[in-house]
Amino acid sequence: MANKASKPTDALIGHDAWNIQLDKNGNLKHFLTTEGLGSDMLTRILDTAESFANVNEKSVKKVPLLRGKTIVNLFFEASTRTRTTFELAAKRLSADVLNINISTSATSKGETLLDTLKNIQAMHCDMFVVRHSDSGAAHFIANNVAPDISVINAGDGSHAHPTQAMLDMFTIRRRKGHDFGALRVAIVGDVMHSRVARSQIHALNTLNTGEVRVIAPRTLIPVDIEDMGVNVFYDLQNGIADADVVIMLRLQKERMQGAMLPSEQEFYHLYGMTEERLQVARPDAIVMHPGPINRGVEIDSSVADGPRSVILDQVSYGIAVRMAVMTMTLGREKENREPEDAR
Ligand code: CP
Repeated sequence: MANKASKPTDALIGHDAWNIQLDKNGNLKHFLTTEGLGSDMLTRILDTAESFANVNEKSVKKVPLLRGKTIVNLFFEASTRTRTTFELAAKRLSADVLNINISTSATSKGETLLDTLKNIQAMHCDMFVVRHSDSGAAHFIANNVAPDISVINAGDGSHAHPTQAMLDMFTIRRRKGHDFGALRVAIVGDVMHSRVARSQIHALNTLNTGEVRVIAPRTLIPVDIEDMGVNVFYDLQNGIADADVVIMLRLQKERMQGAMLPSEQEFYHLYGMTEERLQVARPDAIVMHPGPINRGVEIDSSVADGPRSVILDQVSYGIAVRMAVMTMTLGREKENREPEDAR
């Protein structure tokens, strides 16, 4: 990590990058990637989220765990689900939330990421939630903030989107039970450019999923993907056969350089998920998508809105999972376990 640099790059994500996520006691300090975290830690996140799912179902959806804490949402890239559920999660934990609009901030006048960061840090905040188009941006920020500030990666380039992956694991666990070893999970679409797929694959393998498959045209599969412990399929029907969970990915056109596909219509013709194609998956298979969905490109409306779709559950569970990660990184996990009247 080049601490003195002012702009993150892919080179910033070294093999030991995940080490900075844990403090000296092995607790979560930052949440930057699912890679390198053990199954104990991922299960702790899921179990903590379970307790917050109950809060979200109450008429008063608020607990005082992060009262007095200030959380800054720093989104350099567009977002609907992630930004709003992080904001809701922080508010339900009673934190103060600051949403920095980058398009109207001094960044648009040429201020570097590091200078933006230092100025906001001078306002005595406790956490940065960061989305950035550069892979490595969240690591860069975690390596440059004051020691008492936590950083959560809300999606960096094509590298990682760890809270999305954990809300996906939470959704799978709620629908399919705790035994990931019994599951076959098929991830379909633009794996090449997907930070979500990378974070999901790390999490699924750490949780000992029975089989993880990726299905896409050759142009959208990274050459070394098998090293991540997945089986590769180029044919959709073979790939989703007997799957318990089918995860559809968006075509990330904003990250494609050059023509990687003949057309969206051709992609839909070969890889778009329809009711008819889904018949080869297990009868109780669920269909997931991190959003935003492109109807008629990667998924047909009859599937997206159909009985097997859990797409909107994923969004709802995102609040509980983000509440869990915020509580854990700010060192309030123990207080969450105490009875409410003892706080
Ligand atoms: N899944 C996801 O990251 O969606 P947004 O881009 O809307 O945050």
